[in-house]
Amino acid sequence: FGVDSIVTLDDFEKYAKDVLNIRAWEYFSTGAETETALINNKTAYDRIFFRPRVMVDVTYVDTHTQILGVDSPIPVYVSPTASNALGQPLGEIAVTRGAASTGILQILSHVASKSLDEVMSEKQDKQKVGWQLYMNQDRSKAEEEIKHAVELGAQSIWLTVDTTVLGRRIRQMQGEAERNPAPNGKPLTQPATNILSQRHASNLTWKDIAWIKSLAPGIPVVVKGVGAWEDVVLAKENGADAVVLSNHGGRQLDFAHAPIQTLYELHKNSPDILKDRSFQVFVDGGIRRGTDVLKALCLGASAVGLGRPFIYAATGWGSDGVEKAVQIMRKELEVSMRLLGVTKLDQLRPELLDCSKL
Ligand code: FNR
Repeated sequence: FGVDSIVTLDDFEKYAKDVLNIRAWEYFSTGAETETALINNKTAYDRIFFRPRVMVDVTYVDTHTQILGVDSPIPVYVSPTASNALGQPLGEIAVTRGAASTGILQILSHVASKSLDEVMSEKQDKQKVGWQLYMNQDRSKAEEEIKHAVELGAQSIWLTVDTTVLGRRIRQMQGEAERNPAPNGKPLTQPATNILSQRHASNLTWKDIAWIKSLAPGIPVVVKGVGAWEDVVLAKENGADAVVLSNHGGRQLDFAHAPIQTLYELHKNSPDILKDRSFQVFVDGGIRRGTDVLKALCLGASAVGLGRPFIYAATGWGSDGVEKAVQIMRKELEVSMRLLGVTKLDQLRPELLDCSKL
């Protein structure tokens, strides 16, 4: 299929399923255990409805914003995802190129197929790249890694905090088991993820934020993987510059709230945090449509992250796929903003939503 046959972001997934080898498909698509969190991430958006306003001049609409001080044409960034080269040889570099030509912000996974060094030498001069960190249990190793990322010019550091152990991704484990039945009860491993388990700390605490900031002066530190509104308050108190409400795309704790539900709780319990735009709140998980993005922004999110859609777009169509994904998202945002009666993102507000079914 040419990229022109892609109409929605879900189309990338539909076609990627046919293109990818089964191992890559299982690794990318699986959620934890019953996959309830994975599914609910998407369906939670379907339970929020709009209260559109009419008779507003919507001739011109503007989807631009700033994400941690970086200009972005849409309130969307690329969430960090591991091992993209399972899908295509260029791996995360395809995303770097697509991000360069569209102006969106890429956050590179700590366990990406391509190193931060490779991505930084591939990116355009003015292009910014954020870096995601899995804290090493051995803090001297972590210190080296953080200092190296700072030297390379990482724009921001996204500390992932929802991965103290790896979630059980049953569909992937069963697939592996079927393909290579374990002789003599030898344990089966999850090939793409076993690297991770050696290096992520189970002893992370809020004190680590100040420590990272001391190693990376002037660089925004984002806490990624917050699943309850109370932890947003703690993240801010402990010096984080931003948070991502996220359940890791439904891959970690099954039955964890959909991030949009966490955002709604934050909006009800601590609305002032959302009004302070110097502390940005991001959301990721299950976001596939312009309307999903607008719903999150109405509730006070500054921007949203997309994981799988960019993996699938890059997998099948390289940087062209990434460009197409951004074009689709931009078009959907422009159409839905007009129909909602807003011309700028800062006009999005809770009153435009009915969350009573959420
Ligand atoms: C992820 N995610 C992730 N997060 C992170 O902080 N570091 C990582 O290395 C990875 N790796 C990873 C691999 C794959 C295959 C997926 C699908 C996800 C989580 C990711 O950043 C993000 O939270 C989710 O992908 C968002 O959900 P959607 O957009 O995929 O539904």
